[in-house]
Amino acid sequence: MSPKKAADAEKDDEELDYEEFEGNEEDAPAEVGGEDSSVSGIEVTDLPGVGPAIGKRLAESGYKNVEAIAVASPNELAAAGSIGETTATKIIKAAREMLDIGFETADLFLERRKHAGRISTGSKALDELFGGGLETQSITEMYGSFRSGKTQMGHQLAVMIQRPPEDGGLSANAIFVDTEGTFRPERLVDMAEAYGMDTAKVLKNVVWARAYNSDHQILLCDQAMQMSNELNAKLLVLDSVTSHFRAEYTGRGTLAARQQKLNKHLHHLQRGAEINNMAVYITNQVMSRPDAFFGDPTAPVGGHVLAHVPQTRCYLRKSKGERRICRLVDSPNLPEGEAVFTVMKEGIRDV
Ligand SMILES: Nc1ncnc2c1ncn2[C@@H]1O[C@H](COP(=O)(O)OP(=O)(O)OP(=O)(O)O)[C@@H](O)[C@H]1O
Ligand SMILES: [Mg+2]
Repeated sequence: MSPKKAADAEKDDEELDYEEFEGNEEDAPAEVGGEDSSVSGIEVTDLPGVGPAIGKRLAESGYKNVEAIAVASPNELAAAGSIGETTATKIIKAAREMLDIGFETADLFLERRKHAGRISTGSKALDELFGGGLETQSITEMYGSFRSGKTQMGHQLAVMIQRPPEDGGLSANAIFVDTEGTFRPERLVDMAEAYGMDTAKVLKNVVWARAYNSDHQILLCDQAMQMSNELNAKLLVLDSVTSHFRAEYTGRGTLAARQQKLNKHLHHLQRGAEINNMAVYITNQVMSRPDAFFGDPTAPVGGHVLAHVPQTRCYLRKSKGERRICRLVDSPNLPEGEAVFTVMKEGIRDV
């Protein structure tokens, strides 16, 4: 985690109410290790203060390895392990020290970045705009008006990720969190058939859940991150990130609460993307800006919170006929630019 992000995470914690949990110590053996065991070889129970009982509870809450604990926030870990927050802070600190997390030299960071995978979008022009496709270890946000193709792109990515690297995928699976009820397995079939893929297999490799409110959405995304190893999922589609927040928090007075919750949600997604080497694709609606006299009178929902967390932000708009224009608005390492594509029965394609 970069020092800035670490500082942000700390800030998140300060803003939240702490609750102390004093659970009973059960003497059950820890079920740690296996598929979710640490990349570093350090077991959770190697951490000072983590015995079998706490280790078990942490594992059950998804903290199955030292890496996950190192990037947790104290209040989350306290809740997960039924331990005091001071203990949680000490455990996190120990995990960070053991893993040598903190500053790292740029060459090591570059090394980690080399493991970042790319997922093709189905359109060459779009892939080029994204520097070779959607990147893992980061969040890509697509915002745009209704029917601009945001959901179609989510479906397309869920199919593309399953293809081998030479065909634009990562030979991995996808998790789809649907907040608007617009996920359509039939579209996956259409898109998979276009590439001659085994459609039954393609459908099996996408797990889907409908999120009914913002709390449910957050829960499902956290669960998605925890399941990703087991499922070999390298893509999380969240369609859309803001609709529930927008519907539930109306009025000026609730704005701060909404932004705080959204901010935490996005930081969780970001952390999950980094730990699990996953691509997180989120969609977002646009709202009209009545004050805009010049230029495009639309802006993405979510305000400054959404403007700062996703690494890559794109604006999708409809053009003549079935054409869509994707504009790369913000990226840490790619130039701004535009690409034109279309949505067909077969999926996302070049014009
Ligand atoms: N089977 C299909 N064949 C051809 N085009 C399709 C097909 N299904 C969907 N589309 C295209 O995709 C468009 C819908 O795009 P999509 O649902 O991705 O929009 P969106 O940006 O998610 O909109 P919203 O903001 O309403 O969620 C349709 O208007 C149509 O042009
Ligand atoms: Mg949609």
